[in-house]
Amino acid sequence: MSMTRGAMVAAVALVALLLFPATFAFPPAGQQQLDPHFYDHSCPQAQQIVASIVGKAHAQDPRMAASLLRLHFHDCFVKGCDASILLDSSASVVSEKRSNPNKDSARGFEVVDEIKAALEAACPRTVSCADVLALAARDSTVMTGGPGWMVPLGRRDSLGASIQGSNNDIPAPNNTLPTIITKFKLQGLDIVDLVALLGSHTIGDSRCTSFRQRLYNQTGKGLPDSTLDPAAAAVLRPRCPRSGGDQNLFFLDHVTPFKFDNQYYKNLLVHQGLLSSDEVLFTGSPATAELVKLYAASQDIFFQHFAQSMVNMGNISPITGRNGQIRSNCRRVNHN
Ligand code: HEM
Ligand SMILES: *[C@@H]1O[C@H](CO)[C@@H](O)[C@H](O)[C@H]1NC(C)=O
Ligand SMILES: *[C@@H]1O[C@H](CO)[C@@H](O)[C@H](O)[C@H]1NC(C)=O
Repeated sequence: MSMTRGAMVAAVALVALLLFPATFAFPPAGQQQLDPHFYDHSCPQAQQIVASIVGKAHAQDPRMAASLLRLHFHDCFVKGCDASILLDSSASVVSEKRSNPNKDSARGFEVVDEIKAALEAACPRTVSCADVLALAARDSTVMTGGPGWMVPLGRRDSLGASIQGSNNDIPAPNNTLPTIITKFKLQGLDIVDLVALLGSHTIGDSRCTSFRQRLYNQTGKGLPDSTLDPAAAAVLRPRCPRSGGDQNLFFLDHVTPFKFDNQYYKNLLVHQGLLSSDEVLFTGSPATAELVKLYAASQDIFFQHFAQSMVNMGNISPITGRNGQIRSNCRRVNHN
């Protein structure tokens, strides 16, 4: 009995479909779905534990919510949301904590340690460090007055880190809008995600060094950034001089610095975004400017888009299934 080549391919495909239906029904390997109910049976207290420690930390340090929100972003943009940012340097790891975007800037690691210790006591080796970051980001948003959302869970932790990825894949505050859009697109995020997620800068601080260029020499011609309100620049210069004061801190949203609201977008409309990467959302393209105006006009729409875009960001290349591991200490890989 002989089969044509086409019939043979079809028969093999049919057998494969019957034997491995999941292969065909779901996206390719590594894209297994996350699930908000992932720990419902294995660690029902997980979300409560995270929320209570984030709440305590935020009460002690009002900046902490912002710092924890940012950690999830800096985790997800570097080979996916896999807690790679939490690894300390070791024989096999060059820590992402030393990268340009993170050094002297990323913070909140001790709070993550405290959360992880409480989770290990309640449910050993069950809740991943990557999921801790996703939950802490949501809780930080809620605690400062922002929207809530169900956090898809089930991420596992990486076995390594990438300082190159941290330096190259996280946008810099003096990147142009096209560069920023490209860096988001590489993560599968569009301009709605970009403009909505940047609304995170409604809370938290920046160092002088992250925006000094705008105050004195934005384009190499010895002039300040023309898209920065001159009065705002004059207020910033004394504590962010041409040299020195690198680590001096400034509110990203100087009007309501501790409140998660849509004030960030209102600031952009009057050219008072602190970072160049903030203001370019309004000045850099009509499409992003329309979104800035929309969110400045409607906090409800901003909150809805922000919540959806945080889920989108949290879905960047998670490690699932049997890959990776559940670290017992977020700072190092397990060796057994
Ligand atoms: C174009 C993209 C982005 C750029 C260029 C950028 C850049 C920055 C810079 C330069 C700082 C100040 C760091 C310092 O000087 O110490 C900062 C802070 C912050 N960023 Fe972003 N960011 C971006 C997107 C995001 C996203 C997507 C989120 C969250 C979803 C986020 C959350 C935060 C928060 C909350 C802070 C304050 C952190 C604190 O006070 O500890 N950023 N960002
Ligand atoms: C952006 O900032 C970095 C770090 O301060 C600097 O080395 C670089 O020259 C700046 N790029 C542009 C285009 O201004
Ligand atoms: C501005 O920057 C350019 C190149 O980055 C440099 O050549 C120039 O000397 C700077 N001007 C001032 C006034 O600092």
